Amino acid sequence: MARPVNFGVLGLGMGMHHCTAVLNAKGANLVAVCDHDPKRLKAGVETFKVPGYATWPELVKDKKVDAICIATESGTHTRFGVEAARAGKHILMEKPVDVSLARIRKLQDEVKKAGVTCGCVYQYRMDKLNIMLRKAIQAGKMGKVIGAHIHLPWMRLNSYFEGPHGTWRGTWKLDGGGSLSNQGIHCVDLLQWLAGPVHSVCGFYGVFNHPIEAEDQAVAILKFESGALGTLYTTTCANPDQPFHLYMYGTKGSFSRRGEHLEYYEMGSPKDRERMRGMTAKMTKCDSAGLNPLALSTAGHTLLIEDLVKAIHTKREPAITIESAKHSVEIVTAVYQSARTGRAVEIAKLRG
Ligand SMILES: NC(=O)c1ccc[n+]([C@@H]2O[C@H](COP(=O)([O-])OP(=O)(O)OC[C@H]3O[C@@H](n4cnc5c(N)ncnc54)[C@H](O)[C@@H]3O)[C@@H](O)[C@H]2O)c1
Repeated sequence: MARPVNFGVLGLGMGMHHCTAVLNAKGANLVAVCDHDPKRLKAGVETFKVPGYATWPELVKDKKVDAICIATESGTHTRFGVEAARAGKHILMEKPVDVSLARIRKLQDEVKKAGVTCGCVYQYRMDKLNIMLRKAIQAGKMGKVIGAHIHLPWMRLNSYFEGPHGTWRGTWKLDGGGSLSNQGIHCVDLLQWLAGPVHSVCGFYGVFNHPIEAEDQAVAILKFESGALGTLYTTTCANPDQPFHLYMYGTKGSFSRRGEHLEYYEMGSPKDRERMRGMTAKMTKCDSAGLNPLALSTAGHTLLIEDLVKAIHTKREPAITIESAKHSVEIVTAVYQSARTGRAVEIAKLRG
């Protein structure tokens, strides 16, 4: 049997969920945590009973550590990722890979050069219902996809943007934007994972109800490479907040999912429809957190850690590669660029 992979976790906000996920994952050990906030480090060490480092160089140099979960502010991810790869460590990168496409490309180069494995977090892709919907779309049960739409009407209180770990949120530099680049990017990724890559976008955004720099509401029209059209809507101002709403239309069928619930599923044979409705009634579980960002299940992260462990042992690609996680950042970047310039933006033009 292969030796367990020893994980260290950098950043003990969302990183606390990574620690739990590592402990729950088969084939993974938690061997160290790291945060330069002493209170968070103490909480991490006491909760998980592992050694704690106050500085990143101590973690990345630790010979016991095989893989590092990176859960720091989004605009810092690839800096740590590049250093981890150069130190020969495998990586699990929180979403988004980074807020800069140039830095993401740099990470791709460094990971390839170092021969390490880097998996990325988009836990909606581990959700069983989403997996079943994707399989049905790919099996042609929807016919030709003509429309793909997702709305995320969430709420974040002002306190979310305050305090020692709040002020980076809603900034261009470290969060890459606001409701779209932070919360909404899960939905952007899900939409493109189901409907295929996006060709061009037309977007608008603004700040409506928070003291932040970037945006707390964004909207975009999408044209997919397949020719399908779609819409994207995100906010952190909705009061009361609502679960995400995903709906897709095809020439032979359509479905609608709102949070945990499949609202309707009119695709495939009558037997297919019956089976899907029956199964989803029992098992839909989406790792989303509306008003409370910490009300997040760790199930999706656990599966991603188990996947990374298998990818390391078998030298295969992880379930979510940097390349496949990059497209959501391209779409978000295009929405913001379109809103600033008042023109539609072709994704291919961002690729340099
Ligand atoms: N997958 C999800 O559903 C999900 C949910 C929440 C957050 N996230 C992502 O997780 C990342 C972190 O978000 P968060 O809300 O936990 O942020 P946070 O600010 O609460 O936590 C980041 C932590 O990293 C630590 N840190 C930063 N630089 C460091 C360094 N050089 N050395 C040691 N520690 C350092 C900070 O002290 C802080 O404790 C973001 O990229 C965010 O997008 C993902």
